[in-house]
Amino acid sequence: MSAMNLSRPTPRASVMAIAAYVPGKSAAPGAAKVFKLSSNETPLGPSPLAIEAFRANADHLAIYPDGSASALRVAIGKRYGLDPARIICGNGSDDLLGLIGHAYLGPGDEGLYTQHGFLEYPIVIRAAGAEPVVAPEKDFAADVDQLLAKVTARTKVVFLANPNNPTGTYLPFAEVKRLHAALAPHILLVIDAAYAEYVSRNDYAAGIELAAESENVVMTRTFSKIYGLANLRLGWAYGPASVIDAINRIRGPFNVNGAAIEAGVAALGDSAHVDKAVAHNDQWLPWLTKEIERLGIKGTPSVGNFLLLHFPKDETLSAKAADAYLTSRGFVLRAVGAYGLPNCLRLTIGTEEANRGLIVALADFMGRARG
Ligand SMILES: Cc1ncc(COP(=O)(O)O)c(C=O)c1O
Repeated sequence: MSAMNLSRPTPRASVMAIAAYVPGKSAAPGAAKVFKLSSNETPLGPSPLAIEAFRANADHLAIYPDGSASALRVAIGKRYGLDPARIICGNGSDDLLGLIGHAYLGPGDEGLYTQHGFLEYPIVIRAAGAEPVVAPEKDFAADVDQLLAKVTARTKVVFLANPNNPTGTYLPFAEVKRLHAALAPHILLVIDAAYAEYVSRNDYAAGIELAAESENVVMTRTFSKIYGLANLRLGWAYGPASVIDAINRIRGPFNVNGAAIEAGVAALGDSAHVDKAVAHNDQWLPWLTKEIERLGIKGTPSVGNFLLLHFPKDETLSAKAADAYLTSRGFVLRAVGAYGLPNCLRLTIGTEEANRGLIVALADFMGRARG
């Protein structure tokens, strides 16, 4: 056992092993206009009804919110056909992922996720004192056989982002079911469906059916992406009563603020706004995919509201060089070296102006670097 440091409080070793999450940058110093395409936010913003509800909340800031977010759970239940008693809301889905980790993982346990999986997972796993285990992916997508090969007697939680960030790939529902069927009943499968609303594939499902029927599946969702409420921090999870009960015991008593509850309810009531966001994405994701490939940049086929760009090996055309050039032109993308993708950038689908401008800037970059 290592000697205890008595000169100051010492965090657990597993905490100090964490590489703190670095969010996508937002600044582009010197650029006339900045397009933030680094955090998968919606270019359409929130529903006007949600903004109105948020403003109305200013009249009662001194009063604690409803700690169980009942109105929001009822609204989510109505929208998705779910029992509100099996829903829990959080301060962003990050909050819920962390709570799931703390409730189900501890020293000696392993938490499993995929090679280019969302980087919050290793943080959550280590924060709980457990060991992160990484399963290789196939073509930048989760691979069920590789995941199952990494399951050991110590595995307690499997985190699966579906679709995955930052790759944009997804696992067909049949594959998710195959993964679940092969997991022992004491292993919790966390399906993180932050981008579910954007997916229009017949073989995709967010995981509601599995979470409804199993004792060991929980699905997390967010209001940060298609609902445009990232700044408010609002997410939810749906799962078996036992899992919701465990998370409820350890969450902050008022982990969701009143403005978020009311804006969330209003956002759920504006399905036309969500439809508009889907239509926008369906128009611009294929356009951007085609345009970048025309420029000689490879894109991983995406079903989300973002696209992973693979830059050529040539140093002058590298992701790092592109990032610097695009930022100077006001286009802020996400560097994804921390995801094991050092020569890639992740691009969020933006407004028409941002998308068209980005392609012009990228064309200039490729031309300049080559020329
Ligand atoms: C896959 C995935 N899960 C969860 C989150 C966290 O979202 P929230 O804003 O709800 O905490 C993100 C945000 O980028 C994400 O990409």
